Amino acid sequence: MTWRSSWSRRQERQADAREADALWCAWRRACEGAGLCVRVETASGLTVVTPEVVQIVLGPPTVLMVRLLPGHLVRDVEQVADRLAPHLGAFGLRVEQRGDVFARIELVPSDPFAAPVEDSLALVQVPVLLGRDEQGRDLVRDWASEAHMAIQGVTRSGKSRFVYGFLGQLASSPLVTVAGCDPTGLLWRPFAGSRHAPWQVSGLADIDAHEALLTRLVVDMDARIAGLPAGRDTLAVSEAEPLRLVVFEELVGLYRATDAVSKDAGRRVRALIGRLLAEGAKAGVRVVLVVQRAEAALMGAFERAQCSVKVSFRSDNPAAVELLHPGAARDVAEAHVSALPGVGLLSVPGAPLTRFRAPHVGSYADYAEKIRASSASRGPVAA
Ligand SMILES: Nc1ncnc2c1ncn2[C@@H]1O[C@H](COP(=O)(O)OP(=O)(O)OP(=O)(O)O)[C@@H](O)[C@H]1O
Ligand SMILES: [Mg+2]
Repeated sequence: MTWRSSWSRRQERQADAREADALWCAWRRACEGAGLCVRVETASGLTVVTPEVVQIVLGPPTVLMVRLLPGHLVRDVEQVADRLAPHLGAFGLRVEQRGDVFARIELVPSDPFAAPVEDSLALVQVPVLLGRDEQGRDLVRDWASEAHMAIQGVTRSGKSRFVYGFLGQLASSPLVTVAGCDPTGLLWRPFAGSRHAPWQVSGLADIDAHEALLTRLVVDMDARIAGLPAGRDTLAVSEAEPLRLVVFEELVGLYRATDAVSKDAGRRVRALIGRLLAEGAKAGVRVVLVVQRAEAALMGAFERAQCSVKVSFRSDNPAAVELLHPGAARDVAEAHVSALPGVGLLSVPGAPLTRFRAPHVGSYADYAEKIRASSASRGPVAA
């Protein structure tokens, strides 16, 4: 028994040593191929020097600790990570600085977004789960402390499902009124008869109803601002004065329909939305704009600047990503052209651009059921 277990331990150690050797060789070759090396002239000829592997931990997770080459930064490794990863048998690499001249390189074995993310934060109130990042962390934002949100993505990229996700979380909160204009007619259907319904207009049969709702929201916003106590410049959201979450699903549909009525009607609707964007943040109003592409005709520089949370689902080209996430790395923007439904890029103040996967609410029927169950639960009618 004893000799048998010591024999199998020795076998395991030998297998580990072989794996570590193979990884070490693969690292050297991948670095040479990706250009993460220097060529030095020695007495015996030209020698290629790659970042030295000082430690290998066989995972999971498998980690290489490497000493950076003189003059190199961790950034230099990150820039070629996508070229190195496949040759190390990994989907991706997580690279972190260690000390002054070391990098910790963790091998990510598979796409962290291959499995769906469950809509698990059903009980949250004003905080909302937007999704999960590449490191597996939940991205939770507090609507009370955010400004507005811009969402773009080509058709079938997951915009509506993303909106369903956070509406499902917020509909039961007495601190939130879910309001807005939905030309598609689907978003508000499950809210029928709830306290939110008086703040929602669906479809395009009655264009005036959209303008009337927007006027009412602006009047309500003005009254809130006028009623702010002397010592406050922003409204403290409460059950008496809940957050007005104003969603514009497929904004282009609303603009086209109002422009078709008259240019003046189109201008008035744009001006009302502009006022909600400009002044709403301090009055407890949060606008969510949903478009296929955040081009200037729909979302100008002013509108984009008012949105502190910017989300892009699959885009038709890197230039579209650039509209909401200026300065996004070229390879990230290019890869996003083929993102899976529900995989997005998120920009929020003070944080780097983050790739994430939105929670999946399931089917439309699941969304409808969730809204019916939660919005019927409590809260004053038409608060
Ligand atoms: N987070 C997600 N996880 C998994 N699948 C998703 C996710 N989001 C969307 N999908 C899939 O993508 C499909 C399209 O999603 P959705 O209707 O939200 O797209 P959209 O961008 O609103 O499209 P359109 O512009 O046509 O309205 C869904 O039916 C669903 O199958
Ligand atoms: Mg949609």
